[in-house]
Amino acid sequence: MRVVVVGGTGNISTSIVRELLGLGHEVTCYNRGRSGSPPDGVRVIQGDRQDRDAFETAMQAESFDAAIDMICFNAEDAASSVRAFRDVSHFIQCSTTATYGVDYDILPVPEHHPLRPITDYGRGKVAADDVYLAAYHRDAFPATIIKPSTTYGPKIGVLRQVAWEFAWIDRIRKGKPLLVAGDGRAMHQFLHVDDAGVGFANVVGKDHTIGQMYNLVRREHVVWVDHHRIAMEVLGREVELVGVPVDDLVAMDVEGVAICRDIFAHNAYYSGEKISRDVPEFCPRVSLAEGMRRAIAVMDAQGRVPNSDDATWEDEIIAAQRAVRETRVS
Ligand SMILES: NC(=O)c1ccc[n+]([C@@H]2O[C@H](COP(=O)([O-])OP(=O)(O)OC[C@H]3O[C@@H](n4cnc5c(N)ncnc54)[C@H](OP(=O)(O)O)[C@@H]3O)[C@@H](O)[C@H]2O)c1
Repeated sequence: MRVVVVGGTGNISTSIVRELLGLGHEVTCYNRGRSGSPPDGVRVIQGDRQDRDAFETAMQAESFDAAIDMICFNAEDAASSVRAFRDVSHFIQCSTTATYGVDYDILPVPEHHPLRPITDYGRGKVAADDVYLAAYHRDAFPATIIKPSTTYGPKIGVLRQVAWEFAWIDRIRKGKPLLVAGDGRAMHQFLHVDDAGVGFANVVGKDHTIGQMYNLVRREHVVWVDHHRIAMEVLGREVELVGVPVDDLVAMDVEGVAICRDIFAHNAYYSGEKISRDVPEFCPRVSLAEGMRRAIAVMDAQGRVPNSDDATWEDEIIAAQRAVRETRVS
């Protein structure tokens, strides 16, 4: 099939493009040309999707069989994609599990669960998904909505619980203790980009997925303390984990704490049954340890692991937390 990927050189979409090629599709990427080049054999149409007229005109001038939109974040982006791709036979929207919010009626969260997003990001994705589903019901627009959980790989790096920062890898190497949020036992599902790529690429052309929403997740979950201990095994050094209330981290305005406040401090455990049933090729193979090993190798090679000696906030919070504990004991 002739498949266009809006994006195509990003964290997840790089793997999607590789998988599409492997499946024998003819692949085109639409992007601004700022984030690198796709592999040989992929055609690039350069442009900014926010320049809606140019984007829609460029897409309408082509004849694609399928489109995957990796950078649609709100209702306006979605309405533009509906116009741009009105002639394709399959359209796939990359949504997110953040659409569910953090207040669940049941775990793991199934696709029919009420949507209670708590972030602008989650609300924007719900609005976009609604535009596609309305177009499906009204005009048979052939949309499939895919909701990946946290998806990591060499481009994003290996994530931690309390903040969006990566010096924690260096802290483990140097034997320094690490903070976790609360008891560190919030549940999480990590998906490696290569497994996500297999999922997206194998949805393409499956007519029975049209009009459907799917969580794209590994079926098992881990708790964050175990995630951090796996990182310690990968890095060959064990360090102490120190719990601190997430509200304290927010009150202290720790840089990058929003991801913890909004997602990582909460249970994030979604059902993967539906995608396994309808897209059996999606069968995640990259273990967390292996995914971490691969991502850390790339981060090291590119000098992307910051020196933890350059920041003092974590040691200061840990010292304060220990002082509180000692006061309580004495
Ligand atoms: N990572 C996660 O944990 C996670 C979880 C759930 C859902 N998601 C979803 O995954 C998607 C992101 O996918 P990704 O990780 O592959 O992307 P990404 O790393 O954010 O990369 C963005 C891609 O889109 C292109 N791009 C960005 N802005 C553009 C614009 N205005 N016009 C045209 N092209 C543009 C970039 O190329 P240029 O810079 O060259 O334009 C690049 O190819 C988002 O929809 C996000 O909500 C991510």
